[in-house]
Amino acid sequence: MIVVSNIWRPLIFGLAAVILCAGQALSQAMSVQDRIVQCAGCHGADGNSPLPNIPSLAGQPAFFVLNQLFLMREGVRKVEAMAPFVKDLKESDLDALSGHFSKLPPKPSGEPIDAALVKRGTEIAAQKKCGSCHKPTLTGDQQVPRIAKQRVDYLTQALTEFRDSKREGADTLMSGAVAGLSDADLVALAHYAASH
Ligand code: HEC
Ligand code: HEC
Repeated sequence: MIVVSNIWRPLIFGLAAVILCAGQALSQAMSVQDRIVQCAGCHGADGNSPLPNIPSLAGQPAFFVLNQLFLMREGVRKVEAMAPFVKDLKESDLDALSGHFSKLPPKPSGEPIDAALVKRGTEIAAQKKCGSCHKPTLTGDQQVPRIAKQRVDYLTQALTEFRDSKREGADTLMSGAVAGLSDADLVALAHYAASH
């Protein structure tokens, strides 16, 4: 018995040390890499979201992502699904995460795009001058998001929220751009932006 326990003792100590280290690692701040893995669960491994109503982040201007993460952390833009993932983000995390997603190549979501709706959306966008802020390429700039290649379902949802003043903490610049548009107009704009 004594001999056996002497043989096992170093192994048991070794195991205990491993468990202790793992516990310490968990209690320490998460690395940016760990966070990116968390984000990938919803926003896609390459920043292109495979999930309905969850926006793609690939190719978003870094400043837009940083700004939105800040607004969410401070509870100004309220996104329930994101709350646990933003609450303890440090300033350095905001910089690293926004830099990471801005450099990933955006890809179309694969949702069906309707050519007639794209045509109608193009006309409305010209009247409403969407390109004056989002850029003619719709790739965004600074605090203005990229809407090109964004998911159709998310674009439709976001536009509806702006029109109905449902997006908390939203920049008022957008309310004017979509005021008075019908649901059908917003769907057409979503197809237009996604097709870019
Ligand atoms: C549980 C799912 C989930 C996880 C995990 C998650 N998000 Fe989100 N995120 C969402 C949803 C849903 C929205 C859209 C909210 C809305 O409808 O306004 C969103 C919106 C965003 C936006 C705003 C984008 C835009 O176009 O307006 C940013 C930026 C963002 N998330 C970054 C992140 C980052 C960075 C992480 C990892 C630290 C992360 N998210 C983790 C679900 C998630
Ligand atoms: C005066 C400048 C301006 C104009 C014109 C404008 N936008 Fe925006 N748009 C913004 C800003 C700024 C934001 C970011 C809003 C925020 O931070 O809450 C935004 C956000 C959006 C979003 C949300 C994207 C996301 O990822 O969350 C969509 C979709 C959008 N705009 C589409 C449009 C369309 C379509 C038009 C034309 C009908 C348009 N915008 C016209 C400035 C503008």
